[in-house]
Amino acid sequence: MSQADAAFAKGLEGIIAGETTICSVEQGGLFYRGYEIHDLAKNATFDQVAFLLLEGHKPSPAELDRFKAEIRKERPIPHHVTRFLQETGPALKAGTAVPMDVLRSAVSILAHTDPDCQSVAADANLRKAKRLLAKVPTIIGQMQNVIDGRPLVAPETGGDPALDHAANLMYLMSGQKPSPEYARVVDVSLILYAEHDFNASTFTSRVIAGTLSDMHGAVTGGIAALKGPLHGGANEMAMEMLKEIMHDVGEKGIGTKAVDDWMQRAFDTKRKLMGFGHRVYKNGDHRAPILHALGRAIAEKDTRNPGGHAALQWFRLGEQVQAIMLDKKKIHPNVDFPCGLTYFTMGIPVPQYTPIFVASRVSGWCAHVMEQHANNRLIRPLSAYRGEPPRKWNA
Ligand code: CMC
Repeated sequence: MSQADAAFAKGLEGIIAGETTICSVEQGGLFYRGYEIHDLAKNATFDQVAFLLLEGHKPSPAELDRFKAEIRKERPIPHHVTRFLQETGPALKAGTAVPMDVLRSAVSILAHTDPDCQSVAADANLRKAKRLLAKVPTIIGQMQNVIDGRPLVAPETGGDPALDHAANLMYLMSGQKPSPEYARVVDVSLILYAEHDFNASTFTSRVIAGTLSDMHGAVTGGIAALKGPLHGGANEMAMEMLKEIMHDVGEKGIGTKAVDDWMQRAFDTKRKLMGFGHRVYKNGDHRAPILHALGRAIAEKDTRNPGGHAALQWFRLGEQVQAIMLDKKKIHPNVDFPCGLTYFTMGIPVPQYTPIFVASRVSGWCAHVMEQHANNRLIRPLSAYRGEPPRKWNA
């Protein structure tokens, strides 16, 4: 057996691929720089968490004010990025481009006018991280305005200076300022999404950074990895799946055997149910119940009918699906399942769920890029060769 064979694990399962001081993901808990996720979701804001991840410690009130002012100043996006979003409008409307693709390309071309782009020095990286954190919501918001055929919302300021990250993102996407309750729920969802150690997108960003390539490139790669339905794309796919079940069983089918039958057909065809399962958490994702409770509380008061049904009916359907998955497969929901339900209840367009994930995770990616650059070694694993034995070209 070769050295590579001895260490091989499909999907790198169980392999420790590096060291970090940013986050720990364990069966027993999720911690950002030592702070447990329930504690953060209850007592912190996303802006504080972003500071914690990027600057390495809990901010004092003065540090937080300074940080928020720096972010607000960086919210406007360059004209060439706005033009790109406008020119991509037809492709977005035609569906050949989806918001995650457009966000990925927009972040990539943001680099072209960033004065620090080519530097991997710590101070340049921190400046770029703040710019990326500030500009991603503006890109998402203005893209949604292009899709909806609305004038750009506050393009000179990148939103409303009085609003924090989550509320400003919602304002940019709709032109409407969210209620404090909606803003807080999105804020908590961003706290939950901010960081998750060596998940696929963060690992991608670290591999790119490990070649001493730049932060914009690493974040662009992170977005490409996050898009996949096995990773961040699951929040959109979970909601699409619930829509499919609702369509097939009807509202009257909720709470009945019709949903069990739908699920059994999915199991029989070995279909992967989106928003369920996790590589690390086998007894449940610590983030999921936090968001489920907040989303359900909103749904209980909701007076609109998202997708033509009361918001609470979507939650009831989701809860039934969860119960069947646990009973039949012993698989728990991950954070993307309640996220889909919660954002749907709030009327957020489904194709923007994963871009919103980016508006949060960009803080984690940038923290990891900085950590990688600060103590770098090229990330270059081995592969276990399974091909032809050595042979002659002219045999
Ligand atoms: N639906 C149906 N079966 C599942 C699911 C699922 N969502 N997840 C795992 N299983 C089954 C899987 O088929 C396998 O069964 P068997 O042993 O009979 O082949 C068993 O459970 C073990 O799963 P696995 O494929 O070894 O798990 P993994 O660690 O390779 O994959 C996962 C983890 C998240 C990719 C997977 O659970 C999955 O595809 N889930 C659906 C997509 C999803 O929700 N992704 C979001 C991940 S968490 C948050 C984020 O990154 O955004």
